[in-house]
Amino acid sequence: MSADLTSHYLGLELRNPLVASPSPATDSTDSIIRLVDAGIGAVVLPSLFEEQIAHIEREIATVLDAGLSTFGESPDGFFPDLGDYNLGPDGYLSMIESARAAVDVPVIASLNGVTPGGWERYASHLENAGASAIELNLYMLSTNPDSDGREVEDRYIEVIRSVADTVDVPVSAKLTPFFSSLPHIARRIIDEGGASGLVLFNRLYQPDIDVDTLTVKPHLRLSTSVEINLPLRWIAVLRDLVDGSIAATTGIHTADDVIKALLVGADATMMASAILRGGPGHVTSVLSAVETWLAEHECRSVTQMKGSMSLGSVPDPEGFVRANYLHELASWSRDLP
Ligand SMILES: Cc1cc2nc3c(=O)[nH]c(=O)nc-3n(C[C@H](O)[C@H](O)[C@H](O)COP(=O)(O)O)c2cc1C
Repeated sequence: MSADLTSHYLGLELRNPLVASPSPATDSTDSIIRLVDAGIGAVVLPSLFEEQIAHIEREIATVLDAGLSTFGESPDGFFPDLGDYNLGPDGYLSMIESARAAVDVPVIASLNGVTPGGWERYASHLENAGASAIELNLYMLSTNPDSDGREVEDRYIEVIRSVADTVDVPVSAKLTPFFSSLPHIARRIIDEGGASGLVLFNRLYQPDIDVDTLTVKPHLRLSTSVEINLPLRWIAVLRDLVDGSIAATTGIHTADDVIKALLVGADATMMASAILRGGPGHVTSVLSAVETWLAEHECRSVTQMKGSMSLGSVPDPEGFVRANYLHELASWSRDLP
């Protein structure tokens, strides 16, 4: 008998834990249908950006008053040209409706914003259009030395709280790893912000310099499996500390990556780069290899293995924390080539 791949994420039942993370692969109903036919457990749509909604609602003044200009993605800063990437607010709502009508897996909407303001109201439009949940992509880059960590974190909580208070569907927060105390902010996001889960971690858009033209140029490269170790460690640490769902994102390419993320305690494993490279067929082969692994390891279900290697469950928790660092450094030879 094949293993039960069902997983619960944000209170939603997923037929399997593999979720398509926001990317151009989830940017149309047709490609969502192809992913679902290939076996994907849920999809997250590309983010609708605060700036787009604020523009539509003619609330730019409010947004600027709230301090957006201190962040890197401000309209007068490095905010990337979205081109045709997402459809804008109206097209976005239509896509939620058509995707929900076309597929029988959860369709999660994504909002990207950092300033408390009217744009959070848009969350209720997403809910009314049929979004199964709302992922808040909190891509915030503080460049203001007068703004301390607590102030930045309070802003996160305020934004999450205002969305969670507005909608009945579950809300998740997609974070970067750049916090002094991840366990603290993670707990605040769930307990004070009212989020149902965390998505760990966002991969920052990192601009590059063109040395010929001396201009700042966009630099978006796809990930590899090498990048999975950062989310793995933090999911292992946070699994037993937060009372909410956790999704792994960044570096999930192979069945082994999915299995590792589940072992440390992820409820969902999100994939973007690997789908952009391999197409929907990659989803099918990863799921098949996950099933094979479960059978070979006599695991009856994803639930049975989930979290069995979190920090609180492994016999050697030091492997996830500081002692391992010393060991790794010492294991390198002194002989240079
Ligand atoms: C071309 C591209 C577009 C993306 N657009 C979004 C987006 O709109 N919202 C978002 O939260 N993440 C976005 N991401 C980030 C992915 O959802 C994912 O979190 C990140 O790429 C790490 O996962 P991966 O290693 O599987 O690629 C995008 C990634 C790529 C490569």
